[in-house]
Amino acid sequence: MKPKKYIIKKGKIYWPSKEMKKIAWVSNEKIYEIASRNPVKFWEEKAKEGIKWEELWKKTYEEKLPYFEWFKDGKLNFCVNCLDRHLDKGSKTALIWIPEPTKEKPIKLNYAELYDKVNRFANVLKKQGIKKGDVVAIYLPILPETLIAMLACTRIGAIHSVVFSAFSADALKARIQDGKAKLLITADGYYRRGKEENLLEKAIKATEKTTVKKIIVVSRLRKKKRGGKFLDFQKEIEKAYSYCKPEIMNSEDIMFILYTSGTTGKPKGIVHDTGGYAVQAYWTTKWNFNLHEDDIMWCTADIGWITGHTYAFYGPLLNGSTTLIYEGAPDFPNPGRWWKIIDENKVTVFYTAPTAIRMFMKVGDKWLKKYKLNSLRILGTVGEPIDEDTWMWYFKKIGKGRCPIIDTWWQTETGGTSINVLPGIGPFIPTVAGKSFPGTKHIVVDEKGKKVKEGKGGFLVQVPPFAPGMLHGVYNNHKKYVETYWRYWTKFKKRYYNTSDGAYVKNGLIRVTGRTDDVMKVAGHRLATAELENAINDSKYVNESAVVPIPDKIKGQVPVAFVVLERGEPSINLEKELKKHVDKKIGPTARPSKIYFVNDLPKTRSGKIMRRILKNLLNNEEPKGLMTLVNPEAVERIKEVLKENST
Ligand code: PRX
Repeated sequence: MKPKKYIIKKGKIYWPSKEMKKIAWVSNEKIYEIASRNPVKFWEEKAKEGIKWEELWKKTYEEKLPYFEWFKDGKLNFCVNCLDRHLDKGSKTALIWIPEPTKEKPIKLNYAELYDKVNRFANVLKKQGIKKGDVVAIYLPILPETLIAMLACTRIGAIHSVVFSAFSADALKARIQDGKAKLLITADGYYRRGKEENLLEKAIKATEKTTVKKIIVVSRLRKKKRGGKFLDFQKEIEKAYSYCKPEIMNSEDIMFILYTSGTTGKPKGIVHDTGGYAVQAYWTTKWNFNLHEDDIMWCTADIGWITGHTYAFYGPLLNGSTTLIYEGAPDFPNPGRWWKIIDENKVTVFYTAPTAIRMFMKVGDKWLKKYKLNSLRILGTVGEPIDEDTWMWYFKKIGKGRCPIIDTWWQTETGGTSINVLPGIGPFIPTVAGKSFPGTKHIVVDEKGKKVKEGKGGFLVQVPPFAPGMLHGVYNNHKKYVETYWRYWTKFKKRYYNTSDGAYVKNGLIRVTGRTDDVMKVAGHRLATAELENAINDSKYVNESAVVPIPDKIKGQVPVAFVVLERGEPSINLEKELKKHVDKKIGPTARPSKIYFVNDLPKTRSGKIMRRILKNLLNNEEPKGLMTLVNPEAVERIKEVLKENST
């Protein structure tokens, strides 16, 4: 049978086809208008329809800026919403896990099996004294146990704090300390590009002299007896009782924290609540990806990021659908792996990042030849702006010109997608994210919060009522929360959430142009220049440093560092040493692509490093604003260093 075409072209623009309209949950544009007439009522109805509440709320939305609350005093359990309510179809597959080694078999868990494991593991956590409100750190790669552990936390009301498994011991430690985590769940390791990656060693180092007293270890690589503070995940599950009563939570109780980079050196713990997050995750998954029960959704994001939380795990399960996750590298054993997984498992919804697509573009189309990819219905992209070439390649080569591309703009802070086109409504235009999700509103403003005209660039802000999935603070750091997100409120009394992204509006559609602060997106990973500078400055060789992002064909952006040495001589070895130091402090994802040794950094009179000037120099542009520098001669010297390095 010929695969269906879900889009049609009118002029230069793509729109949903009749086939798409037929399967779409929403296909009438009026939804935006209806929702915007009374957004609170819209979300109230959606919350009732999509989520199982033990007790309904007393007040739907209350705003006391800089905080706001949704579904106040409403009671629910998140795990019940992901599992218990789907038990009437317990034999339906909830999870498909694909291991990296090709000889190893995938694991499938149906809703009943997943329910059993989650209940047992919830009892394991309880046995270790974990209770409502305690923070549990999870340092795991993409494994079935990761999902089991996270859901078990939500069942007993513990707050999970997942840390990206490629982060270093130091990065994990900082997050454990900030959250005062009581327990750590990790694995002995995992496979990456055919190699064994050791995780436990890093985990042990990270937990030294912290609040973590017990470590639960998933034996991924080999079974090994461990005593003392180590517990074996599998053994504990087997011993545990198979039912755990769900803890009934208030809608506003914290469900998880997830650390992300801001403009300072220290990552911040973004706080997400239970009810609002559930509503956002449920509806955005359902509407953006047109998720039906027979869909198999594959979101390739790692669980260490918000995309992994909301669309690899929670969104599909809240919708009673099937989620597929893959342990390994996209190009292992060859760059056909992802497409093989799609064909073999009949994936219908595929959600990934531009950086991955660009990598596949580079390796060439020959890796696609063997695969039909005709199970696909919808493609999604997230994490960074997608350029037109990448969009077209994704559209033509993966979607075979049949599937819409849903370009979703959002952030760790928003919990779920915020701006995108809905598949049944369209239009699908390369590089254009689209409209605010129904019931949500964004505008583009200038420095002082004045709305700018259509077509003019400015700062993207969200206006009230703020979406239910939005963050509920920065963990134990009110000041940081206010400074980062509410500058329009504190300075100009405008009720705007500051996204820190630049954007413009054209024909009523939003195009996001990228961060306006000192945050980079490296292969879709969010990193602060200050965080990297801290890591570099921590080396005994370094006096000071400045990091700037430069464009990269595959990764979107990569960091470049300018370093003033305290001791030692500039050399290739020292460059290697400093890169290794960054690996140790943060992880290889943050490693600078190049380090330039300079004798001074351009600074203002107040001592602020002018990164903009460094960026100009790297891009061969004549830097502006040299007058404001206290040391303009530094610029000449840097030019020489760049020249020496280019030859
Ligand atoms: O700059 C925007 C960019 O990613 C930032 C959020 O990063 P993070 O919290 O790691 O979450 C990523 C996954 C939700 C945003 O401030 N970004 C994300 N999606 C897009 C995007 N930029 C342009 N287009 C997108 N679709």
